[in-house]
Amino acid sequence: MSLVNTIDRNNVPQHIAVIMDGNGRWAKQQGKFRVFGHKHGVKSVREVTEGAAELGVKYLTLYAFSTENWNRPKLEIDALMTLMVKTIKSETDTLMKNNIRLSTIGQTENLPNDCKEELKQAMELTKDNTHMTLILALSYSSKWDIVDSVKKIATQYKSGDINLEDINEELISNTLATKHFPDPDLMIRTSGEQRISNYLLWELAYSEFYFTDVLWPDFRKEHLHAAIANYQQRERRFGKTGEQVAKNKS
Ligand code: FPP
Repeated sequence: MSLVNTIDRNNVPQHIAVIMDGNGRWAKQQGKFRVFGHKHGVKSVREVTEGAAELGVKYLTLYAFSTENWNRPKLEIDALMTLMVKTIKSETDTLMKNNIRLSTIGQTENLPNDCKEELKQAMELTKDNTHMTLILALSYSSKWDIVDSVKKIATQYKSGDINLEDINEELISNTLATKHFPDPDLMIRTSGEQRISNYLLWELAYSEFYFTDVLWPDFRKEHLHAAIANYQQRERRFGKTGEQVAKNKS
Protein backbone atom coordinates (compact mmCIF):
# COMPACT_ATOMS: atom_id res chain seq x y z
CA MET A 1 0.00 0.00 0.00
CA SER A 2 1.40 3.40 -0.90
CA LEU A 3 2.11 5.78 1.96
CA VAL A 4 -0.55 8.30 0.92
CA ASN A 5 -3.26 5.70 1.55
CA THR A 6 -2.12 5.30 5.14
CA ILE A 7 -2.74 8.99 5.88
CA ASP A 8 -5.76 9.65 8.08
CA ARG A 9 -7.63 12.42 6.22
CA ASN A 10 -9.27 13.50 9.46
CA ASN A 11 -5.94 14.26 11.12
CA VAL A 12 -4.05 16.16 8.43
CA PRO A 13 -2.05 19.11 9.82
CA GLN A 14 -4.02 22.30 9.27
CA HIS A 15 -0.85 24.33 8.78
CA ILE A 16 2.52 23.06 7.56
CA ALA A 17 5.62 25.29 7.62
CA VAL A 18 8.66 24.32 5.56
CA ILE A 19 12.33 25.30 5.59
CA MET A 20 13.41 24.48 2.05
CA ASP A 21 17.09 23.75 2.57
CA GLY A 22 19.87 22.14 0.57
CA ASN A 23 19.62 23.77 -2.87
CA GLY A 24 23.27 24.84 -2.80
CA ARG A 25 24.56 21.41 -1.76
CA TRP A 26 22.37 19.69 -4.36
CA ALA A 27 23.88 21.88 -7.09
CA LYS A 28 27.41 21.30 -5.78
CA GLN A 29 26.87 17.52 -5.92
CA GLN A 30 26.17 17.93 -9.63
CA GLY A 31 29.18 20.18 -10.12
CA LYS A 32 26.94 23.17 -10.89
CA PHE A 33 26.48 26.69 -9.51
CA ARG A 34 24.15 27.20 -6.51
CA VAL A 35 21.51 28.87 -8.67
CA PHE A 36 21.04 25.58 -10.52
CA GLY A 37 19.82 24.13 -7.20
CA HIS A 38 17.38 26.99 -6.65
CA LYS A 39 15.97 26.49 -10.16
CA HIS A 40 15.34 22.82 -9.48
CA GLY A 41 13.87 23.75 -6.10
CA VAL A 42 10.91 25.31 -7.91
CA LYS A 43 9.65 21.86 -8.95
CA SER A 44 9.69 20.87 -5.28
CA VAL A 45 7.70 24.01 -4.42
CA ARG A 46 5.11 22.90 -6.98
CA GLU A 47 5.05 19.33 -5.63
CA VAL A 48 4.68 20.30 -1.99
CA THR A 49 1.97 22.86 -2.80
CA GLU A 50 0.01 20.40 -4.90
CA GLY A 51 0.53 17.57 -2.41
CA ALA A 52 -0.60 19.69 0.54
CA ALA A 53 -3.67 20.96 -1.32
CA GLU A 54 -4.65 17.41 -2.33
CA LEU A 55 -4.65 16.28 1.29
CA GLY A 56 -6.68 19.23 2.56
CA VAL A 57 -3.90 21.18 4.31
CA LYS A 58 -5.33 24.68 4.79
CA TYR A 59 -2.10 26.71 5.18
CA LEU A 60 1.35 26.08 3.77
CA THR A 61 4.19 28.45 4.67
CA LEU A 62 7.45 28.26 2.71
CA TYR A 63 10.65 29.98 3.87
CA ALA A 64 11.67 31.33 0.48
CA PHE A 65 14.07 34.14 1.51
CA SER A 66 15.23 35.08 4.99
CA THR A 67 16.40 38.48 6.21
CA GLU A 68 19.83 36.87 6.59
CA ASN A 69 19.78 35.74 2.94
CA TRP A 70 20.39 39.39 1.95
CA ASN A 71 24.00 38.72 3.01
CA ARG A 72 24.52 36.21 0.17
CA PRO A 73 26.54 37.19 -2.93
CA LYS A 74 24.66 39.74 -5.07
CA LEU A 75 24.70 37.40 -8.03
CA GLU A 76 22.82 34.73 -6.08
CA ILE A 77 20.31 37.23 -4.63
CA ASP A 78 19.58 38.64 -8.10
CA ALA A 79 19.13 35.15 -9.53
CA LEU A 80 16.79 34.17 -6.67
CA MET A 81 14.67 37.30 -7.17
CA THR A 82 14.47 36.71 -10.93
CA LEU A 83 13.45 33.12 -10.26
CA MET A 84 10.82 34.27 -7.80
CA VAL A 85 9.31 36.74 -10.31
CA LYS A 86 9.30 34.12 -13.06
CA THR A 87 7.78 31.45 -10.83
CA ILE A 88 5.02 33.65 -9.42
CA LYS A 89 4.16 34.77 -12.95
CA SER A 90 4.08 31.22 -14.35
CA GLU A 91 2.25 29.63 -11.40
CA THR A 92 -0.59 32.11 -10.89
CA ASP A 93 -2.86 30.20 -13.31
CA THR A 94 -2.25 26.98 -11.38
CA LEU A 95 -3.04 28.73 -8.11
CA MET A 96 -6.33 29.94 -9.61
CA LYS A 97 -7.20 26.50 -10.98
CA ASN A 98 -6.55 24.91 -7.60
CA ASN A 99 -8.38 27.60 -5.63
CA ILE A 100 -5.20 28.57 -3.72
CA ARG A 101 -4.69 31.99 -2.22
CA LEU A 102 -1.21 33.51 -2.22
CA SER A 103 -0.01 35.51 0.76
CA THR A 104 3.31 36.71 2.18
CA ILE A 105 5.00 37.43 5.49
CA GLY A 106 8.16 39.50 5.86
CA GLN A 107 9.61 42.86 4.90
CA THR A 108 8.41 42.59 1.33
CA GLU A 109 8.96 46.33 0.87
CA ASN A 110 12.68 45.48 0.60
CA LEU A 111 12.17 43.26 -2.46
CA PRO A 112 12.95 44.54 -5.97
CA ASN A 113 10.08 46.44 -7.64
CA ASP A 114 9.29 43.78 -10.24
CA CYS A 115 9.05 41.15 -7.54
CA LYS A 116 6.76 43.36 -5.42
CA GLU A 117 4.59 44.06 -8.46
CA GLU A 118 4.29 40.38 -9.42
CA LEU A 119 3.39 39.44 -5.85
CA LYS A 120 0.83 42.23 -5.61
CA GLN A 121 -0.91 41.08 -8.79
CA ALA A 122 -0.91 37.41 -7.81
CA MET A 123 -2.20 38.17 -4.31
CA GLU A 124 -4.96 40.39 -5.68
CA LEU A 125 -6.00 37.79 -8.26
CA THR A 126 -6.08 34.91 -5.76
CA LYS A 127 -7.51 36.80 -2.78
CA ASP A 128 -10.92 35.09 -2.86
CA ASN A 129 -9.54 31.54 -3.22
CA THR A 130 -10.49 29.31 -0.32
CA HIS A 131 -9.06 25.80 -0.69
CA MET A 132 -5.60 26.56 0.74
CA THR A 133 -3.43 29.57 1.55
CA LEU A 134 0.16 29.47 0.33
CA ILE A 135 2.26 31.85 2.41
CA LEU A 136 5.70 32.83 1.17
CA ALA A 137 8.09 34.04 3.87
CA LEU A 138 10.09 36.64 1.98
CA SER A 139 12.73 38.88 3.50
CA TYR A 140 11.40 37.33 6.70
CA SER A 141 12.96 36.65 10.05
CA SER A 142 11.10 35.87 13.22
CA LYS A 143 13.24 38.17 15.37
CA TRP A 144 12.41 41.07 13.02
CA ASP A 145 8.71 40.23 13.38
CA ILE A 146 8.90 40.05 17.17
CA VAL A 147 10.77 43.38 17.38
CA ASP A 148 8.12 44.91 15.11
CA SER A 149 5.36 43.53 17.32
CA VAL A 150 7.00 44.97 20.46
CA LYS A 151 7.19 48.38 18.76
CA LYS A 152 3.48 48.24 17.84
CA ILE A 153 2.51 47.28 21.38
CA ALA A 154 4.76 49.96 22.93
CA THR A 155 3.14 52.58 20.66
CA GLN A 156 -0.36 51.47 21.70
CA TYR A 157 0.67 51.56 25.37
CA LYS A 158 2.27 54.99 25.04
CA SER A 159 -0.81 56.47 23.43
CA GLY A 160 -2.99 55.00 26.19
CA ASP A 161 -4.90 52.67 23.84
CA ILE A 162 -3.93 49.67 25.98
CA ASN A 163 -2.95 49.04 29.59
CA LEU A 164 -0.20 46.77 30.90
CA GLU A 165 -2.83 44.11 31.72
CA ASP A 166 -3.93 44.03 28.07
CA ILE A 167 -0.54 42.65 27.01
CA ASN A 168 -1.00 38.91 26.69
CA GLU A 169 -0.23 36.05 24.27
CA GLU A 170 -3.27 36.85 22.15
CA LEU A 171 -2.27 40.50 21.71
CA ILE A 172 1.26 39.50 20.72
CA SER A 173 -0.03 36.88 18.24
CA ASN A 174 -2.32 39.52 16.78
CA THR A 175 0.51 41.95 16.11
CA LEU A 176 2.76 39.45 14.30
CA ALA A 177 2.92 39.14 10.50
CA THR A 178 1.26 35.73 10.88
CA LYS A 179 -1.81 37.14 12.66
CA HIS A 180 -4.25 35.88 10.03
CA PHE A 181 -3.00 32.29 10.16
CA PRO A 182 -3.18 29.57 12.83
CA ASP A 183 0.13 28.35 14.28
CA PRO A 184 1.79 25.54 12.28
CA ASP A 185 1.04 22.00 13.42
CA LEU A 186 4.04 20.60 11.59
CA MET A 187 7.40 22.11 10.61
CA ILE A 188 9.49 20.29 8.01
CA ARG A 189 13.15 21.06 7.34
CA THR A 190 15.03 19.35 4.54
CA SER A 191 18.74 18.65 4.01
CA GLY A 192 19.60 17.14 7.39
CA GLU A 193 20.06 20.45 9.22
CA GLN A 194 18.26 20.58 12.56
CA ARG A 195 17.84 24.28 13.29
CA ILE A 196 14.94 26.78 13.30
CA SER A 197 17.03 29.51 11.63
CA ASN A 198 14.97 32.47 12.83
CA TYR A 199 11.73 30.97 11.47
CA LEU A 200 8.36 31.45 13.21
CA LEU A 201 9.94 31.32 16.69
CA TRP A 202 6.71 32.32 18.45
CA GLU A 203 4.38 30.34 16.21
CA LEU A 204 6.29 27.03 16.40
CA ALA A 205 5.97 26.85 20.20
CA TYR A 206 3.92 23.63 20.06
CA SER A 207 4.54 22.41 16.51
CA GLU A 208 5.85 18.96 15.71
CA PHE A 209 9.23 19.03 13.95
CA TYR A 210 10.19 16.71 11.12
CA PHE A 211 13.73 16.64 9.76
CA THR A 212 14.71 14.78 6.63
CA ASP A 213 18.06 14.32 4.90
CA VAL A 214 16.43 14.81 1.49
CA LEU A 215 17.80 17.94 -0.21
CA TRP A 216 15.09 20.40 -1.23
CA PRO A 217 15.38 19.93 -5.04
CA ASP A 218 14.76 16.19 -4.50
CA PHE A 219 11.71 16.73 -2.26
CA ARG A 220 8.58 15.19 -3.81
CA LYS A 221 4.99 14.47 -2.77
CA GLU A 222 6.05 11.10 -1.31
CA HIS A 223 8.37 12.92 1.09
CA LEU A 224 5.51 15.16 2.19
CA HIS A 225 3.35 12.08 2.69
CA ALA A 226 6.11 10.52 4.82
CA ALA A 227 6.29 13.66 6.98
CA ILE A 228 2.51 13.72 7.48
CA ALA A 229 2.37 9.98 8.23
CA ASN A 230 5.11 10.50 10.82
CA TYR A 231 3.23 13.50 12.29
CA GLN A 232 0.14 11.35 12.69
CA GLN A 233 2.06 8.94 14.92
CA ARG A 234 2.95 11.69 17.37
CA GLU A 235 1.00 12.42 20.51
CA ARG A 236 0.51 16.19 20.78
CA ARG A 237 0.32 16.94 24.48
CA PHE A 238 0.57 20.76 24.64
CA GLY A 239 2.14 20.46 28.09
CA LYS A 240 -0.46 17.99 29.40
CA THR A 241 0.18 14.38 30.42
CA GLY A 242 -0.39 11.49 28.02
CA GLU A 243 -3.23 10.26 30.27
CA GLN A 244 -5.01 13.63 30.12
CA VAL A 245 -4.74 13.69 26.33
CA ALA A 246 -6.14 10.14 26.05
CA LYS A 247 -9.03 11.02 28.39
CA ASN A 248 -9.97 14.10 26.34
CA LYS A 249 -10.02 12.00 23.16
CA SER A 250 -12.36 9.33 24.56
C1 FPP B 1 17.94 27.17 0.82
O1 FPP B 1 18.95 26.38 0.25
C2 FPP B 1 17.02 27.73 -0.19
C3 FPP B 1 16.80 29.06 -0.40
C4 FPP B 1 17.45 30.13 0.38
C5 FPP B 1 15.91 29.54 -1.45
C6 FPP B 1 14.69 28.73 -1.71
C7 FPP B 1 13.99 29.28 -2.91
C8 FPP B 1 13.47 28.56 -3.93
C9 FPP B 1 13.42 27.09 -3.97
C10 FPP B 1 12.80 29.29 -5.05
C11 FPP B 1 11.38 29.34 -4.63
C12 FPP B 1 10.51 30.18 -5.40
C13 FPP B 1 9.27 30.48 -4.94
C14 FPP B 1 8.36 31.32 -5.76
C15 FPP B 1 8.79 30.08 -3.60
P1 FPP B 1 20.46 26.83 0.42
O2 FPP B 1 20.81 27.72 -0.73
O3 FPP B 1 20.65 27.43 1.77
O4 FPP B 1 21.18 25.45 0.30
P2 FPP B 1 22.54 25.01 1.05
O5 FPP B 1 22.25 25.00 2.51
O6 FPP B 1 22.78 23.63 0.50
O7 FPP B 1 23.61 25.98 0.67
